[in-house]
Amino acid sequence: MADKSLNEIRSTFLKYFEKNDHKIVESSNLVPNNDPTLMFANSGMVQFKNVFTGLEKRDYVRATTSQKCVRAGGKHNDLENVGYTPRHHTFFEMLGNFSFGDYFKEQAIDYAWNLITKDFGIDKNRLYVTVFHEDDEAFNFWKKIAGFSDDRIIRISTSDNFWSMGETGPCGPCSEIFYDHGDHLKGGLPGTPEEDGDRFIEIWNLVFMQYEQVSKDERINLPKPSVDTGMGLERIAALLQGTYDNYETDHFKKIIQSTSDIVKQKPDQKNLSSFRVIADHLRASSFLIAEGVLPSNEGRGYVLRRIMRRGMRHSHMLGSKKPIFANLFNTLLEEMSASYPELTRAESLIKETLKMEEEKFLVLLDRGIKILNEEISKIDKVLPGDVAFKLYETYGFPIDLTEDILKSKSLKFDKDRFGELMRESIELARKNWKGSGDSAVEKIWFGIKEKIGPTEFLGYENDQAQGIVKCLLKNHKEVSVLNKDDEGMIVLNQTPFYAESGGQVGDKGVIVKDDFKFEVTDVQKKLGDLFVHYGKVVSGSIKLDQDVELKIDVNRRNDTRAYHSATHLLHESLRRVLGDHVTQKGSLVEPERLRFDFSHMKPISNEEIGKIENYVNEMVQKKSEVKTRIMTPKEAVENGALALFGEKYGDEVRVLSMGEEGEKYFSTELCGGTHVKNTGDIGKFKIISQSSIAAGVRRIEALRDKQLEEYLENKEKQLNLSSEKNDEIIKDLSDQITNLGGKPSLDESDQKVLIKNLTKQLETLSVNSILKDKSKNITNDQTVNNVNIRFQKISDLPPKELRKLVDHGKKDLGEGIIVVFASKDEKVGLAVGVTDKLTEKYDAVTFVKVGSEIIGGKGGGGRKDFAQAGGQDSTKIDDAFESIKKLI
Ligand code: ALA
Repeated sequence: MADKSLNEIRSTFLKYFEKNDHKIVESSNLVPNNDPTLMFANSGMVQFKNVFTGLEKRDYVRATTSQKCVRAGGKHNDLENVGYTPRHHTFFEMLGNFSFGDYFKEQAIDYAWNLITKDFGIDKNRLYVTVFHEDDEAFNFWKKIAGFSDDRIIRISTSDNFWSMGETGPCGPCSEIFYDHGDHLKGGLPGTPEEDGDRFIEIWNLVFMQYEQVSKDERINLPKPSVDTGMGLERIAALLQGTYDNYETDHFKKIIQSTSDIVKQKPDQKNLSSFRVIADHLRASSFLIAEGVLPSNEGRGYVLRRIMRRGMRHSHMLGSKKPIFANLFNTLLEEMSASYPELTRAESLIKETLKMEEEKFLVLLDRGIKILNEEISKIDKVLPGDVAFKLYETYGFPIDLTEDILKSKSLKFDKDRFGELMRESIELARKNWKGSGDSAVEKIWFGIKEKIGPTEFLGYENDQAQGIVKCLLKNHKEVSVLNKDDEGMIVLNQTPFYAESGGQVGDKGVIVKDDFKFEVTDVQKKLGDLFVHYGKVVSGSIKLDQDVELKIDVNRRNDTRAYHSATHLLHESLRRVLGDHVTQKGSLVEPERLRFDFSHMKPISNEEIGKIENYVNEMVQKKSEVKTRIMTPKEAVENGALALFGEKYGDEVRVLSMGEEGEKYFSTELCGGTHVKNTGDIGKFKIISQSSIAAGVRRIEALRDKQLEEYLENKEKQLNLSSEKNDEIIKDLSDQITNLGGKPSLDESDQKVLIKNLTKQLETLSVNSILKDKSKNITNDQTVNNVNIRFQKISDLPPKELRKLVDHGKKDLGEGIIVVFASKDEKVGLAVGVTDKLTEKYDAVTFVKVGSEIIGGKGGGGRKDFAQAGGQDSTKIDDAFESIKKLI
């Protein structure tokens, strides 16, 4: 295997196990969707956790993977070591083979032995193994299969040979294979005090999964003994390429060479760690961003930020004053995109995020280091807590960086004072907080947030996830359990549920565990980032600290996403058709419709509506990718993002762009909402009503896809009903004419009756055909101050038909106000109907008075529930309606 590249070694491993009846399974995401206790996938078995414990069944019992892993944050955390050893990584690939209750120790040892000694051709005289001290079985299999003498099989009694995924989860004794890189390197065999040296290196860990750790004190047997193995790809590649240093493999050498070209420095003993840190952190950052993790100040985003900034600091240490990571990413892309296509898919997001973070960090770093150095010159050993706090609070200089820089100069800072100031600042925020609604009730959130910290939102990428219950509330009081039929609130460490904001409604769905089920009816955000799930327990009960499954109603969310993206397209279309004065005044994004309020002085003509719809539908048909980037608000605005005036933004914002137009996008907006991945997912779009809701503010309601189809179908049904009616009349007429033919003569009075009948029916026929004609009959239903209003305009209709339309409208709306204008020749008729209940508040006579004055009439008359008037000026119908509406 000598001189095989990293990519070839990966593929040899997977093919070997495929040949031995293992299914090649794709790496799962770094952000685990099946475990709330883990920050990132830290080994190959994470995606199979529930298969080991028997909760989940797959259609295979043997699998092999090359799993993306990040060990930074959580139980397995290697961040601080990276750069200073030849082997530590934050991101690495773990090759593994798995048996889910199929083969066990003997077969696992046999497969491993054959692969490394035959396919990989590793000299067996350089190999040693360890077993858990009580595991005689494994000991004997090694003797039999490898022919090892007893001294090459080392018994270890510590946790080194008992592998667990985390505090809980599947676990079991393990056996590790070691390679002796030769006596030119320092280091001793496992179990000796020198074991951490570079000479004897672990290359493969075979875990004999037998137990599940369910809590700190309880361990149960797995349904069937299983196997989980893990071999670091970077380590085995080093070995097969004749080095003990992972950073000397083909893959890392390329990244280090590119770094060296960019920073114009050659790696040497003094700066080697910086080159390693950059190479490693570039990989971790890129893979995390590719999965939608973006730098932030909490949760996974914070770990990513620490990794990125650590890498960027080392680039700064190499003397680079400009961002380098986005450029370096090109080398990574060349190296890894064939095995990990997500890097290509997210290329622009990765590059932009790297660039922005690095630009921002360089400014911060220069300023912070300058201040820190000035302060350092004033002290002897300990930096005052007040200075560290000021750097953090005022200049945004990360406290771990202050600590790091001080450490490199053998200095410290006053941590107690720093902590005290942090607490004071939280307390101050609490005091100054005005909040909304009942502040006594709302103030409880401060204590809760302080205790449990912010909720991490996973919903940009995930529809379901696990979470740990951090807080339960009933009647606005904290409780330790919620039982069947309790209405209450649940706060967890993380959630895929979107909390209402930016016009988008909160998600619905369920939180479940065994027989426990909580129906989530709404989700609200408290204090910016505490996600509170409202709902009711429909079965079982739930306690604090339990882990649960959170599942959002996916269809509902998908519809909501589509309406949110449609809203962005509508916003830009309005600006293009009506002008730049259009700014958002309000928005409601629901799974069934969207409502958008914006500044505009006059009614929008049908032609304009058509143009607006065309813009949106064109973007939908373009099926273009929707892009999310993180920027500073300033950069976002420079990128043409529409920001809401008066809105407070943090130092970072999500920027949503859709509809590529050359270098630019049709729409770019700041938005924290959830969106479709592709504009094609929005479906056909149509505006169904417009109205004015205040002086200079208009409201549009629009439908898309399914709801639009339903809406159009209903309209069609109504039309069909009226054409069925026409058919009946025609048949009746022709019957009467036939009868006429049968009668030789009619007396005069019969003739009169007949003519009257015929004329009436012909009139009905023509009225029906006018009503059917969409260009002559425009109906627009809307809601103002919670009152349903129908505004109907009909041309070529005799005013005496108005009453029928009002009656019909009343039936249609159930409760509401009907305003109908009919115009024929120069004349306009206006009729207003108010349904019975509403006559307590509204009077149809007042409405027609105001309306008729505008259309040039005399005021008309009638009763509270129906009034009618005439006028001369049909061009003023819209204005007349707007004035009537103002009275509601
Ligand atoms: N899960 C085992 C490890 O990570 C194989 O070492």
